[in-house]
Amino acid sequence: MATSLSIVFSLIFFLFILHVSSESTLPAEEEEFTEELLFRPLPDRKVLSHFHFQIHTPDTTSYGPHHRLFPKAIYQLVHKYRIRELELSFTQGRWNYESWGGFDPVASSNAKPPGVELWAVFDVPADQVDASWKNLTHTLSGLFCASINFLESSTTYAAPDWSFRSVSSNLRYGSLPREAVCTENLTPWLKLLPCRDKAGLSSLMDRPSIYRGFYHSQRLHLTSSEFDPVASGNGIVLEQTLTIVLQPDALDSHSAFSSSRKFQPSWSMNSLFGRTVDGKCALAKSSNVYVQLEGSLVNNMQDTWNNNDGGFGSNQNIEFSVSPDRMMKEVNSFHGEGSSILYGFSIDDYHSSKPFDLGFKWKLPVTWSCVKAPLRASRFLMGSGNEKGAIALSLQSTEWSQSLPKADNNEQRCRLRVDIFQVVPWYIKVYYHTAKIYVDGMLQSVGETVEKLHVSPSEDKVSPGVMEMILRLPCDMKSAFITLEFDKGFLHIDEYPPDANQGFDIPSAIVSYPDFHTRLQYKEDNNSIKSPMVSKMQEKRTILSYTEVLLVPLTTPDFSMPYNVITITCTVFALYFGSLLNALRRRVGEEERLLKDKKTGKLQLLLSKWSAKLRGKPWEPPSSTPQSSPSKLISSKVLFKVVLIAAIGFGWQYYSG
Ligand SMILES: *[C@@H]1O[C@H](CO)[C@@H](O)[C@H](O)[C@H]1NC(C)=O
Ligand SMILES: *[C@@H]1O[C@H](CO)[C@@H](O)[C@H](O)[C@H]1NC(C)=O
Repeated sequence: MATSLSIVFSLIFFLFILHVSSESTLPAEEEEFTEELLFRPLPDRKVLSHFHFQIHTPDTTSYGPHHRLFPKAIYQLVHKYRIRELELSFTQGRWNYESWGGFDPVASSNAKPPGVELWAVFDVPADQVDASWKNLTHTLSGLFCASINFLESSTTYAAPDWSFRSVSSNLRYGSLPREAVCTENLTPWLKLLPCRDKAGLSSLMDRPSIYRGFYHSQRLHLTSSEFDPVASGNGIVLEQTLTIVLQPDALDSHSAFSSSRKFQPSWSMNSLFGRTVDGKCALAKSSNVYVQLEGSLVNNMQDTWNNNDGGFGSNQNIEFSVSPDRMMKEVNSFHGEGSSILYGFSIDDYHSSKPFDLGFKWKLPVTWSCVKAPLRASRFLMGSGNEKGAIALSLQSTEWSQSLPKADNNEQRCRLRVDIFQVVPWYIKVYYHTAKIYVDGMLQSVGETVEKLHVSPSEDKVSPGVMEMILRLPCDMKSAFITLEFDKGFLHIDEYPPDANQGFDIPSAIVSYPDFHTRLQYKEDNNSIKSPMVSKMQEKRTILSYTEVLLVPLTTPDFSMPYNVITITCTVFALYFGSLLNALRRRVGEEERLLKDKKTGKLQLLLSKWSAKLRGKPWEPPSSTPQSSPSKLISSKVLFKVVLIAAIGFGWQYYSG
């Protein structure tokens, strides 16, 4: 009894010690999850919704390998393949740089090419990067239910040197333009969130509403300092964003046409998604909704804005159904367009009996336009036929680049730097020496406009063609064109995709403007909490835009031809051998006897009598016909038939083949 008691006591004591020690060694840093949602009215009567979730875990050396919030799958992925940075995006639709803007942080980091785009930086020796990349594509493929494993083949990915990101040589980049993105890719992405889509802002994600949108991009960005001795201590940051462009149904249709100027459609969370938020995700540190009004919009409303009596949230132009908790105004606006305004709403105090439903109402008609990228980049195909063609990249100036200084201080012509990164599959054999650059219609020498060029030509069935180019274009130009000629290659019959006649996709090219940075700096009021999304917006980021995916028609074999040939040949052979066998195996005597039994015609009797007389033999009744002579007669007939059929068969083969 005493011993058992002492055991119990010692156990309790042991547990107490354990508890105390775990309390005392608790690290100062904790895992952290935040959820945020940004709305921004767009000039073409649409609304941008941008979900931003971020999970941060401290360094493994200080925190240990066990996590409460951080997804285990991603943690293991980072450690297995020693990933320093990774970005994976699934996109449907094309970002409209013209009307949705190309100069703000959301556009430069969340406007993605259609399909899947993946890039990763590994912290492994240079000779192991490809092996890690291959294994990573397979893992991600399983994790996100997508055919990312097609990026495993060395013909689909590239290792850009300096044009994509100026980071390191351990970067691999690949994209699958034709990947269809749907809800089976969203579900695994949501599974990485601590509350999935059961609570918090992610519960807004009603699948039919999301996929009805004009643009939809789901992105996962991972940075890890686990293997970086210099920046150690930051741990792993997993950033998940979902960017959707939706068309709100006008809430009050009667006012939409009441004046000559069109009203922007008013919207609410319920009208956009068909759902409301029942409070925050209990595991989230903060849960905020923001509404951003662009600088040019604020500028256009300025005249009425000033009449406003101090309080924010109620304005002569707009009205929120919930009054905002904070308002942040942009400082140091880079382009003199006016400064944008960010309204913040905290949803910490809402719950299921008091759901959060933000409504946004326009009270006056207003028009504005977004800030565009310095140049408008688009890419198209030239030429016709199945043999040759040319890729053309056009760069058109926008209003924004026309406001650039025409001449530099030191009497030099102002030059605009444009970086181009383009990956072309091997079966499009681009001749890089045929590059021609036209500025305002005039052919320019390559040496004059191209500052740096790195080309790795494609190798058949081994690697794609990669072009990295730095251009210096005059600031006052109207348009520039780059053309590159190519030959179309031939694929092996089993390399064709299922619907080969649709054409082959050339992934989007990336056009970036390193001289320009998007950076929204907000003057924060003192009671505002640190918001990861707002600090992401304040980061300096290069402006970049993706061009269109090109669809190249290649020579495709007529896949029904072999089928036709096989059927015709089989028919001929069946006819030939069928009749041959029939003729050879037919028992002729039997047939004749049957024939005679049936109709002993007078003519036949007469014929047989005559032949008997001619041969000088007595006439015998037909029942005992001798076998020999008619069989000889028949066999020659058979021979004739066989030869005839053979001749027909050969004739057929000769003329049809
Ligand atoms: C990749 O996977 C293969 C097969 O599972 C394995 O042998 C190899 O070690 C892995 N390589 C890396 C770098 O993880
Ligand atoms: C914010 O706090 C700083 C000091 O921490 C103070 O100087 C400043 O006036 C405060 N700003 C506002 C808007 O309260």
